[in-house]
Amino acid sequence: MRSPHRASAPPPAAPALLVILGASGDLTKRLLLPALLNLACDRLLPESFAVVGMGRDGMTTEEFRARKHDDLRAFHTRATFEDERAAWLTSRLHYLTGEFDDPESFARLRRAVDEVGAATGAVGNTLLYLAISPDLFGLVNRQLDAAGFTRLPGAKRIVVEKPFGRDLASARALNRELLALWREEEIYRIDHYLGKETVQNLLAFRLSNPMFAPLWNARHIDHIQISATETVGVESRGGYYDRTGVVRDMIQNHLMQMLAYVCMEPPESLDPADVRDAKSRLLASVRPMDHADVATACVRGQYGAGRKADGSPAPAYRDEPAVAPCSETETYAALRLHVDNDRWRGMPVYLRSGKALWKRGTEIVVQFRPDGQAARDGDPAGAAAGGNVLVFHIQPFQGVEIRIRAKRPGPAFSLQRAGMRFDYADAFQAARGTGYEVLLYSAMNGDPTLFSRTDFVETAWGIVQPVLDAWAASPPEGFPDYAAGGWGPLAAGALVARDGRHWHEIPNRDILARTPFFAEAPALVLNNLLPAFRPLPVAAGETVVEAGAHDDEMYFVCRGELEALGADGVRLGLLGEGEFFGEMAVLFDQPRAATVRATSPCDLLVLDGDDFRRIVDDFPAVAAEFRRIAEGRRSGG
Ligand code: BG6
Repeated sequence: MRSPHRASAPPPAAPALLVILGASGDLTKRLLLPALLNLACDRLLPESFAVVGMGRDGMTTEEFRARKHDDLRAFHTRATFEDERAAWLTSRLHYLTGEFDDPESFARLRRAVDEVGAATGAVGNTLLYLAISPDLFGLVNRQLDAAGFTRLPGAKRIVVEKPFGRDLASARALNRELLALWREEEIYRIDHYLGKETVQNLLAFRLSNPMFAPLWNARHIDHIQISATETVGVESRGGYYDRTGVVRDMIQNHLMQMLAYVCMEPPESLDPADVRDAKSRLLASVRPMDHADVATACVRGQYGAGRKADGSPAPAYRDEPAVAPCSETETYAALRLHVDNDRWRGMPVYLRSGKALWKRGTEIVVQFRPDGQAARDGDPAGAAAGGNVLVFHIQPFQGVEIRIRAKRPGPAFSLQRAGMRFDYADAFQAARGTGYEVLLYSAMNGDPTLFSRTDFVETAWGIVQPVLDAWAASPPEGFPDYAAGGWGPLAAGALVARDGRHWHEIPNRDILARTPFFAEAPALVLNNLLPAFRPLPVAAGETVVEAGAHDDEMYFVCRGELEALGADGVRLGLLGEGEFFGEMAVLFDQPRAATVRATSPCDLLVLDGDDFRRIVDDFPAVAAEFRRIAEGRRSGG
């Protein structure tokens, strides 16, 4: 099939009229209008372009334009606010106040669309964007039909935001309702993850880098991990979230999209139908689970009180506003799936996502087998440790990284972990966007590639439905079971440990910069250090370093608490999440001054002294600064 090369300067989108239902709401303000501004600044909107918005807030068009200009100033994502472009955009906005249960509002909307279309030339290509609560989808759909929008001349599309249903049955019902009035190719279901460059790049990477194609199967890949972790809790969205949980909120949609892109068969072409067929076929080959499978292959968790990234206290989920005090809603889930097709049979894919975790990061880790031989050697742990790793950094760092081993400079033939890293920020100048630019641009052009088709949505619900059912049938035990700011429930570690594997906990620059030791280090040094860290889970009571020992590692505490004990067994202090220890032995080649023992189960990241010195010695000023900080810590400063 042909490679996905795109023209470097795409033309403006086709003339279009965008109708936004819910135009006075948050989505319009924070995402849709800033995305339209980005398109306008990049000259990707056509001259014949207009927006007709309807919302509940009472306003005239003039007031709406003024308010949106202010909102754009506040929420734009450009390096500098381009006033002239914002004025260009706001001059194309039209507004009417309306109620979604009022047929007359929709009749007025229809008249406004006809008038604005005739006046601006934006006719024959209408997008109806439902930027409204999902409870209103059915009602608004019927109102649009009654007001004749389903019979508009020319191209017309209805754009629907998530959540698309809350289970398989409701998603099917909603699809039936939409399909009764619209053709499949007129329904654009949004999953904002498909607006992310790095998610689209999964397809580009697979199709345009043929060296990986022969390796892309269970013979060469030990397993795949898809993780989306967030540091935020549910904040003001407790009411929605408590009825939803992470399986519905993230896994059924965003993680399934990434799973499909990573694992699908290469589509026959880049035509939307071929790409969407390939994605749906992949999901359809995910092995269905029954309740017994859910018990062994799925883990749920809920956060308790803990600490935010800045060290301030974080509330327990059950104490968040609008959350039931005994809520059983999961804020964390990890699932082991199997894809039963020729390419992937026998190889697990692990998915996990959660709120209030140690870092914000979405990554896809492809763990290769150590030697690429067809058969497993009966030692999956050894296999996983020895193989190369390919990491797709989806966000906040955007790039692709291959972890390799390299010879350490010097006369001995010794090896060290190293990373080959492609960073979007180094390679491209692209302005930071909202992710909605490409979605709006595609919808205007009638390109449904990045939107979810009926079969995809329903198959994705089908995969998670047994999980939802099994969990609804048996209340969770021991909630809350992870502290806000940590790595998630211990059971998630046990899920992969039972398979002889471990989660790849990938630190990022933000995480390291939280410790005073690394706070001032240049990004280049941190980038070099990151792949050198390896995870080390430690049980409560286990000793990590022994006073007097001559070992050569330093440790970062991701989760848990440890105590430092003097020679006489007296506790010298406690080390908690975000703290660093062991650097004295590494920097000053001295024996361990204290014993460090875990007082709770801990997740540590370990950096070997050799790796640290080799990386840091290339930056003498930084090396001197590390020694100065360490001296300060030694003397208690
Ligand atoms: C949304 C979920 O779909 O995705 C949110 O409803 C979640 O709960 C968000 O925070 C995550 O999106 P992103 O782009 O920040 O990864």
